[in-house]
Amino acid sequence: MKPRQSNHDSSAALVAFPGNEAMAARIASQLALTPTPLEWHRFPDGESLVRIDGDLTGRTTVVLCTLDRPDDKLAPLLFAADAARDLGASRVGLVSPYLSYLRQDRRFREGEAITSRTFARVLSGTFDWLVTVDPHLHRYPSLDAVYTIPSALVHAAPALSVWIREHVVSPLVIGPDSESAQWARAVADDAGAPHLVLEKVRRGDRDVEVSVPDVERWRDRVPVLVDDIISSAHTMAETVRHVRAAGLAAPVCVGVHAVLAGDALALLEDAGAAEVVTSNTIPHPTNRIDVSALLGASIDAWCGAGRTTCR
Ligand code: R5P
Repeated sequence: MKPRQSNHDSSAALVAFPGNEAMAARIASQLALTPTPLEWHRFPDGESLVRIDGDLTGRTTVVLCTLDRPDDKLAPLLFAADAARDLGASRVGLVSPYLSYLRQDRRFREGEAITSRTFARVLSGTFDWLVTVDPHLHRYPSLDAVYTIPSALVHAAPALSVWIREHVVSPLVIGPDSESAQWARAVADDAGAPHLVLEKVRRGDRDVEVSVPDVERWRDRVPVLVDDIISSAHTMAETVRHVRAAGLAAPVCVGVHAVLAGDALALLEDAGAAEVVTSNTIPHPTNRIDVSALLGASIDAWCGAGRTTCR
């Protein structure tokens, strides 16, 4: 579902969760918004107190919270949405540069919940609309297949391609698996580079095998591995090892979402990656690609000329 295209609502409020300050500052500056402070206090027993410090009467309220490590953030996010409505917000939208819980899009083993559906149900019941960057839509044709609220998707591919064009001479874009094919193809096309998509077999959280086809003809190119999510980094690391074993140069690893859990970055370095580069949908030292302008443009579309009547 698409947002209503309209002029920017200068009275919209931007409420950012801790950890999202840098993105909030960029979006606020782009859209000429003054961020409304949010306090998040954790009690000794692990419960949270969330407080929004501002008058939201009649204002569209944009809650900015990237959703890596989502289990810790979910309850405070729900509290923030309720607080915004209690303060009089006319509409409460969620901007989550990384939207988690999309990878479990089916029941892999009897007895599991389909967590993408559970998560979508809770967020759809809490917010009026949603903006995110490159959600992991594998078996779902669109977010509308799981989210019942209107949503807008920002594609990071153009920003990734610009970075590749500016920093890599003679790139060969490689997607580690069929799920990454959509990103690899889009990025390669924009960057004017050839691309390959490999095959992956995942046997467990940290047990991944990747096939590498004949790469003889690409030996003079710099491999650029592109995936949407780098989480444990086992997919990327296995691909780095295979690409190196196939005789290609040390690859540059490019990910949209830098989940990079635990020792993931060290794993990539040990595997022989030349560089790890991510977008800033999740704050991380590897962030080199700024998607805030793309996000801002999408958020702007939800903030209408009625000033207080964003959808
Ligand atoms: C799934 O297919 C995604 O596109 C990524 O390849 C995957 O989530 C990466 O996970 P990890 O870094 O844990 O191997």
